Amino acid sequence: MTAAVNGCDRVTATDLSPQAAANTALNAHRHGVRDIVSTGCGDMYEPVGTDRYDLIFWNSGARYTELAWPETEGLGRTIADPGYTAHATYLAQARQHLTHNGRLMLGFADSGDRARLNAIARQHRWHILHLETMTFADCQRTSSLLEFLPCPRTPDTDACPACP
Ligand SMILES: C[S@@+](CC[C@H](N)C(=O)[O-])C[C@H]1O[C@@H](n2cnc3c(N)ncnc32)[C@H](O)[C@@H]1O
Repeated sequence: MTAAVNGCDRVTATDLSPQAAANTALNAHRHGVRDIVSTGCGDMYEPVGTDRYDLIFWNSGARYTELAWPETEGLGRTIADPGYTAHATYLAQARQHLTHNGRLMLGFADSGDRARLNAIARQHRWHILHLETMTFADCQRTSSLLEFLPCPRTPDTDACPACP
């Protein structure tokens, strides 16, 4: 919604939760941008097919849980990603959905497991750039806006001067 009301002329908003996708459609109507925003429901990139984007952003439910944690069904996915499988998919498949010079970003709360995120980013050849930290006034928790930059390392050449 932020992108649409600030001038992006085409926005695709997706979510695993049908309720979240329906809520986004209602918000688009409310903010007068329903011609700009299309919504889709499904697992990560599944609703967008082979489409590519100049900017991909996910405000993730950053908490790490074990795969079998029962509270991560339905609404639980808003705050937790079991096994960080969704984060792994987000980073593994992003290149197939970015335009040339397209940008990949993530909103990552302080409750997230940054070491695991770093490992997933490294595995899928992304550097993490910290852009901004936001503090929520009501609870004093923070969330970071991260950007992922392509790492030139390949499976054959494990050397990248910028990698930690
Ligand atoms: C912190 S909430 C963000 C909600 C809203 N988009 C926002 O920015 O305020 C994280 C969202 O990610 C969604 N999500 C979790 N796993 C997903 C997946 N595998 N594919 C698509 N969406 C997923 C959840 O359903 C939840 O709505």
